[in-house]
Amino acid sequence: MAILSANEVHYSYKSKYQTVHAVRGVTYSFESGKFYAIVGKSGCGKTTFLSMLAGLDLPSDGTVEFGGKTTAELNRDKYRMDDVALICQSFNLFPLLTVLENVMYPMTLRGISAHKAKETAKEKLAAVGLDETYYKRLPDMLSGGEQQRVAIARALASDAKVLLADEPTGNLDTENGKNIIDILKTLAREQGYCVIVVTHDLGIAAEADEVLHLSDGMVKAE
Ligand SMILES: Nc1ncnc2c1ncn2[C@@H]1O[C@H](COP(=O)(O)OP(=O)(O)OP(=O)(O)O)[C@@H](O)[C@H]1O
Ligand SMILES: [Mg+2]
Repeated sequence: MAILSANEVHYSYKSKYQTVHAVRGVTYSFESGKFYAIVGKSGCGKTTFLSMLAGLDLPSDGTVEFGGKTTAELNRDKYRMDDVALICQSFNLFPLLTVLENVMYPMTLRGISAHKAKETAKEKLAAVGLDETYYKRLPDMLSGGEQQRVAIARALASDAKVLLADEPTGNLDTENGKNIIDILKTLAREQGYCVIVVTHDLGIAAEADEVLHLSDGMVKAE
């Protein structure tokens, strides 16, 4: 059964000067326990679509449904805190928090004790290949790929059953990229997460259970 679905979703960016119709009627269902890849050319609407799945934006038309309710009906702050974890294209780390604090932060918000949050953060950082020498550094003391791995560790530390990632391996070398994809695949297939990854990497897409191909804001038939 679908945990998350998009139903005839449209999105337009409107400014004083022009309107960009970025997503044009996308319908798709996502199930728990599956690893999905969203692919398509730069500018085809992948990030825009993902931000609607994540509840950052509401569709201009159509609906996104989670657990039987639309994101327009849901408390979206709660949805974003408890139900979905998003790894952005620009990572969105907190610049004034250390690596360890960045991963702990969402757990602290959810009321998890500092001790438990710290243990979980260390475990998730280890899973993405970052040891204790990184804990006290600030994000701007890290390479792009290291920042990306911190963002992934932070998403893994959430309780959300839907993981959304925008180009999570874009800045990583082959080995680290493969490691991240293996982690995401295992979360889907062994722990029942619904994992949705935007990627330009056809090797990753080849490993997905389903590939959603977008073109000009629409689903392209394979
Ligand atoms: N804030 C914005 N205001 C106006 N237009 C925007 C805005 N953000 C994106 N767009 C436009 O919407 C379309 C889809 O953008 P989107 O970021 O979803 O593409 P994408 O598939 O994620 O591309 P990429 O692979 O380069 O990340 C593009 O034509 C883009 O120029
Ligand atoms: Mg994008």
